[in-house]
Amino acid sequence: MAEMNGYQGFVTAPFGRALAKQLGLPRPARLRRYRAGAPLVPGPVLLLGESPLATELGEALLGWDLDVRTHDAGAAQPGAVVLVLDDAASPADLAAPAMDLAPALKRLAPGGRVVVLSRLRAEGDAPELAATREAITGFVRSVAHELRGGATANGIELAEGIGLDAPSVLGALHFLFSGRSAYVDGQFLVVDSTRGALPQDWEAPLTGQVAVVTGAARGIGADIARTLHRDGATVVLVDVPQAGEALAKVANEVSGTALQLDVNRPDAGQLILDHARTRHGRLDIVVHNAGITRDKLLVNMGRDRWDAVININLASQLAMNRTFLDAGLAGLRIVSLASTSGIAGNRGQTNYAASKAGIIGMVAASTELFSEGNGGINAIAPGFIETDMTGKMPAGPKWAGRLILPSLQQGGLPVDVAEGVAFLASPAAGGINGRTLRVCGQSLIGA
Ligand code: NAI
Repeated sequence: MAEMNGYQGFVTAPFGRALAKQLGLPRPARLRRYRAGAPLVPGPVLLLGESPLATELGEALLGWDLDVRTHDAGAAQPGAVVLVLDDAASPADLAAPAMDLAPALKRLAPGGRVVVLSRLRAEGDAPELAATREAITGFVRSVAHELRGGATANGIELAEGIGLDAPSVLGALHFLFSGRSAYVDGQFLVVDSTRGALPQDWEAPLTGQVAVVTGAARGIGADIARTLHRDGATVVLVDVPQAGEALAKVANEVSGTALQLDVNRPDAGQLILDHARTRHGRLDIVVHNAGITRDKLLVNMGRDRWDAVININLASQLAMNRTFLDAGLAGLRIVSLASTSGIAGNRGQTNYAASKAGIIGMVAASTELFSEGNGGINAIAPGFIETDMTGKMPAGPKWAGRLILPSLQQGGLPVDVAEGVAFLASPAAGGINGRTLRVCGQSLIGA
């Protein structure tokens, strides 16, 4: 898992730094990524908000060994600011908290975090309430755009009736505080049930679990396997036979087992299940990561490119999920790889964007199916991630992708996607179901 991507490496080396300065190119901050044993946040936590939930949260955070303050002490550089707005009911309620947040933002530590807790807009909300709840999302996304130094702003939206008794509220907060969320910016995690459980050991939240990762021989999939292993899981790594050698290498590295398999096979789900059960006795997590691009303008695409992408990226997942359900595995945690292309669309990617938007629909519609125990199904939509897939992009779009000035001013790394997957796969995310989390540094550019 590389620490610094190509562009950042270039602009921080002496020659690149001078050139970048002359040309006015962005010089991105080094993101605060997860390191075992590092503090959860790089300084005291400032907790702002007047509601009962804010008080309760203050007490809960004391158990995390943090220096929590409820007043802006002025001198200290906050490592995180938490703003609790769950009781905001009218747009007028937002003015004072916004003004309270402002001075703290100026002094936020590099790699700091802003996390806003609010209520999810719901059907039946009166217009004023709905307006207020939605206003908070625009506010948070814009705060995120204004932060520098690798700091991020994100939100946790609680469905009506959800409080701190839902473990995923603290689970989401822990993820957003930590270096695991380094490339998640301007996003919202929605907690809508009290399912899930917080780990005994936050550094090994997947202890005892068996996870399958498809497309694990390289790129994002390989880092997902490494990250799940780091978090305590036993990992089954799946990839096509042609990638067998690379697959075996990664499997060895993470003390997992390799399964050579094309996910397009009609019996793929059954073969995965059989392997996990016979070799490891169980199956708790499935990460549908295998995916391909076959980019062409639609006028030049042809049926073969269309079919290949839809089949591998979408149809295979629908089929495997059906197999898992038929086998009685409704308590699985599934994480699928979508893409920001599936949200924003992308020229030359009608097939790919259709497949990835399809994933977002699939997870949204499958929540009831995977809802036993701490089971659930969610997607991660990566933005511009530096891998072999994006390495094949023409230089123009690739550099434009890096330079278009998303908040964090850089592409993400495979490990950033892997961290999001590991969180959504964990029992701490049990109250998050059917959602798509963007890991995109607040850009909408995708492979
Ligand atoms: P990659 O091309 O580096 O790796 C994909 C892996 O999937 C390869 O090892 C390949 O052999 C395997 N694979 C392909 N077809 C398969 C099949 N039929 N059966 C089993 N394995 C198969 O891709 P990368 O960049 O690591 O992407 C991983 C996932 O993330 C994909 O779903 C991709 O669409 C998604 N993604 C990637 C982005 C990026 O910027 N790299 C952005 C957004 C989404």
